[in-house]
Amino acid sequence: MKTSELKSAGRKCDKLGLGQAERTLLVCMDRKTAKCAGSKQMQQVWKHLKRRLKELKLDQRGGIVQIKTGCVGICKGGPIQGDCATIGNLGD
Ligand code: FES
Repeated sequence: MKTSELKSAGRKCDKLGLGQAERTLLVCMDRKTAKCAGSKQMQQVWKHLKRRLKELKLDQRGGIVQIKTGCVGICKGGPIQGDCATIGNLGD
């Protein structure tokens, strides 16, 4: 990755507050290749989370960052909380 690209990525991370965030919510919004949720469900989840984080004042720096992602096909059983190691062990 070029230095200019790294700087650009750093600025975007700063703008999102990723460095200070207590938690990061990854929300599948991939309406074209969704494997387990419908477009309407995705939009409802996104709006609900956004509203609740604002109500709880968790949308501010140091709180919780909400990010749209592509589909990874893992939400069929509901929201997943934890790190990748924890999630990986759920299938054992
Ligand atoms: S529909 Fe994308 S993760 Fe489930």
